[in-house]
Amino acid sequence: MAYQPLRGQKALVTGASSGIGEGIARALGAAGASVVVNYGTNADAAHRIADEMKADGVDAMALRADVSREDEVREMFREMLTAWGTIDILVNNAGLQRDAPFAEMTLEQWNVVLGVNLTGMFLCAREAAREMIRRGVRPEVSRAAGKIICISSVHEQIPWAGHVNYAASKGGVKLLMQSLAQELAPYRIRVNSIAPGAIQTPINRAAWETPEALAALLKLIPYGRIGLPEDIGKAAVWLASDDSDYVHGQTLFVDGGMTLYPEFAHGG
Ligand code: BGC
Repeated sequence: MAYQPLRGQKALVTGASSGIGEGIARALGAAGASVVVNYGTNADAAHRIADEMKADGVDAMALRADVSREDEVREMFREMLTAWGTIDILVNNAGLQRDAPFAEMTLEQWNVVLGVNLTGMFLCAREAAREMIRRGVRPEVSRAAGKIICISSVHEQIPWAGHVNYAASKGGVKLLMQSLAQELAPYRIRVNSIAPGAIQTPINRAAWETPEALAALLKLIPYGRIGLPEDIGKAAVWLASDDSDYVHGQTLFVDGGMTLYPEFAHGG
């Protein structure tokens, strides 16, 4: 049987009805975790993903919540804890873009992006931390009382013109994660981030769907290929497992080298 380092653990993945979140949900399930597939709007996709995981023998359920809304987040956690008793792994993944030239950016575009990408991580991490602190470590399940993984972006480091709201949200995720890691360490709750580069998903379709766009994108990726959701899924399984028990407060860049200033390979 496949290596299942997350056997017996209960996980919640936000924004899991497509893209990176779907890839993470499937990877955690394959690694033995029970998985809540959270979605904001796409109920059909979330239920299909949960059903497919169940057909593969994984305990899965789809739960709706707009992560930027406190009442909906609290209700989702209540439902999960009622059904499964606790939470061991939170993957704060839900994120979106509302791109605009800065001078034209509306307050609505700013607020939606900050609300989901940053406030959503605060609200979900707070609910998860409350339960993990209450329960503490169960050595037969994991060496940690819980694992919180934030899906950030290379844009927590790389500035991004035309995407000021998005880059600001990811810069916020960086210090949210680090400060949370500092505060929750005494409870043995591990907090880390994954910073994906260009991963082939609906959020960046325009960057890969034509050969010209893909060629331009690949100039930014030294490793020479676009990433896939499973690249992030595998990293999430490792960060959620005891194999990374001494990794805490770190951002793991999974980006094919996008943060290596590729233009400097032939200049400077
Ligand atoms: C963005 C994508 C982009 C990638 C690399 C991600 O955080 O959501 O649209 O392709 O960063 O720039």
